[in-house]
Amino acid sequence: MGDTMILKRSIYVILFVLLAINFMMMLFFGKETFQIKNKPATAVKYDYHFVLISEEEDNPYWRLIEKGARDAAEKNNVYLEYLGPKQVDNSEQLKYMDQSIAGNVDGLIAQGITSKRFDQLVNKAFEKGIPFVTVDTDAPESDRAFYVGSDNYRAGVLAGEALIKGTQGEQNVGIVTGRLDSSSQQLRIRGFKDTIQQNRRMEVVAIKESNITKSGAVQATYDLLREHPDVTAFYGTSALDGTGISQVVNQLQLDPTIISFDILPQTIKLLEKGSIDATVAQYPYEMGYQAIELLLRLERGEHPDELQFTKTKLVRPEHVHSKKAPLKGGE
Ligand code: BGC
Repeated sequence: MGDTMILKRSIYVILFVLLAINFMMMLFFGKETFQIKNKPATAVKYDYHFVLISEEEDNPYWRLIEKGARDAAEKNNVYLEYLGPKQVDNSEQLKYMDQSIAGNVDGLIAQGITSKRFDQLVNKAFEKGIPFVTVDTDAPESDRAFYVGSDNYRAGVLAGEALIKGTQGEQNVGIVTGRLDSSSQQLRIRGFKDTIQQNRRMEVVAIKESNITKSGAVQATYDLLREHPDVTAFYGTSALDGTGISQVVNQLQLDPTIISFDILPQTIKLLEKGSIDATVAQYPYEMGYQAIELLLRLERGEHPDELQFTKTKLVRPEHVHSKKAPLKGGE
């Protein structure tokens, strides 16, 4: 064999080895790169896979519902998926519901939506044997197994009573509400109106939507005051409305009575300072926790009551000062 022949052979061997290495690396890294991970990445074996669908993914109130649900899920070996639109969007909530039903999850927890499509999807879940729970906001006309959340009409009554107790003389009330088409918000307004109507000195002069954001509540308050400069009291019906209202009246150096909702930390601070006069506490952590436990009871063949009301309480500045307020669950 001549020298050139040996050289040629060596080059072929080297090329072959390089190709083989290349091929093996492609197999290894290609698999890593193109693998689709649609299941929990761990090897843990869960007993159930539940999905929780919120009104808005990153809303601090919904994060508390998620936290409660996660704690209960962890305790009971449940794999919990938490989904929600970046910004309020019913169609996205409905899409997540549809996808979860198609994925044959073991249970669904979602905010109730008043719409035909929602009822159809709950029905579809029912037909597939997937139990459906409404949380925070109910949809009683649908086939949902049960509702976990506040008695929203009663919560509105509490807010109305707080306004009657906390004011004297005639009051023009401006309402800032999360969303006009949300049944929980409607119930909070109805309970409030029914209560203050018994007292002749009060009148609701306008209702504006905040889209459940603080900036939306700021805008709604400005609009309200521009159209009705004679407003003497505000009622904010979703978790961030009170903080938005308070920011505007502070800037304009007004001092109306403010009744708000929920006990998120920023609301408690404003309550402590006296900027907010009273707030209706809800217990979102408990809602999430109970929703998981109730689904598990259903799985065990039990039949819990259809309406599972979590507490609602009126919190005033003096409660915060004396640390007597039922603030757990709002942190
Ligand atoms: C309501 C929820 C809403 C949240 C928005 C709460 O008071 O119960 O329905 O999504 O406020 O911040």
